[in-house]
Amino acid sequence: MSASSEFKEIFSLLKKLSEAFGISGYEDEIRSIIIDEVKSVADEVKVDRLGNVIAVKKGSKGSLKVLWDAHMDEIGFFVKHIDDKGFIYLSPVGGWWDLILPGQRVRILTDKGNIVYGVIGTKPPHLLRPEEREKIIPIDKLFVDIGASSKKEVEDLGIRVGSPVDLDRQAIELLGDKATGKAFDDRAGVVAILQAFKSIDPVETNVYFVAAAQEEVGLKGARVAAYSISPDVALAVDVTTANDVPGGDPKEKVAEVGKGPTITVADGRSASGLITHPKLLKLIIETAKKNSIPYQLSVMSGGTTDGAIIALTKEGVPTATLSIPTRYIHSPVEVLSLKDLANTAKLIELTTKNITREWYEKEILGH
Ligand code: CO
Ligand code: ZN
Repeated sequence: MSASSEFKEIFSLLKKLSEAFGISGYEDEIRSIIIDEVKSVADEVKVDRLGNVIAVKKGSKGSLKVLWDAHMDEIGFFVKHIDDKGFIYLSPVGGWWDLILPGQRVRILTDKGNIVYGVIGTKPPHLLRPEEREKIIPIDKLFVDIGASSKKEVEDLGIRVGSPVDLDRQAIELLGDKATGKAFDDRAGVVAILQAFKSIDPVETNVYFVAAAQEEVGLKGARVAAYSISPDVALAVDVTTANDVPGGDPKEKVAEVGKGPTITVADGRSASGLITHPKLLKLIIETAKKNSIPYQLSVMSGGTTDGAIIALTKEGVPTATLSIPTRYIHSPVEVLSLKDLANTAKLIELTTKNITREWYEKEILGH
């Protein structure tokens, strides 16, 4: 079986989720796709007031609650200003590197629920002065051209200040088991928990599937979802920065694409990060070893995930973060390995099966 047919199903799900519109706070399209995917296998599905999708597979009576989280929002923009000629200026939602934006095609979601395409224009090299060639153009100087010739023409389409915008990019397969596209952060994580949720048969645990809203603007959805679920244990799934590329410093290596899911030991540094509960970390490593799932350990200095906020819910939740190593995060050409993605799903499922009442009382509560 060739690599591409082996991962056909997982790629088509990733493609569907990746190409959906869903910047932070405007997750309607991605949310409805996810609900369609989980509803046939869940005992219950609901959407809370911040827009999180929460699905449950019930375990036996009195069993533990295990929360699986991945965020469904993607970074994007809001329309900030429309000038008299119909050019549109953007304000970022989440962390962009301005360098990658010129030359991109964007999608604007109108008040009428339609998509309008545009391009982030650039000055042709012919007209660049030598000093301009050296500079990154800041986002507030960039503008979107939708082909309009007046402000009124733009407004008549239902585009106004605050209209949400994302990048227009199709996901495709690369060589071997690799794929590229936008918003793999964190639609790849959603695919991992979806696959695990479809295949797990919960006996010992209640499994709570959370596709969280608004991670990219401060871990917001996960905070309220964890509060309402009040889980005993949580596993957050996100992508992590693989810098296994030319020019990467091996000392700063966080993860490598194709070497298996990354288990975070610590991230974010100090107050804002997560220190994975050591007993949970041990359980995940043992599970990976026993089932011959390759894995990587990571200690990251910057950046964190929903896991950090979930761990601080109520009286505290033992939490771990599993990540899919991904290159070029927060760009429209993120690259990951579908095999790593499949192994992440497997590791979540098998670890959850090992989170028994007996393990919890002994290892977490210390009885
Ligand atoms: Co991100
Ligand atoms: Zn993320």
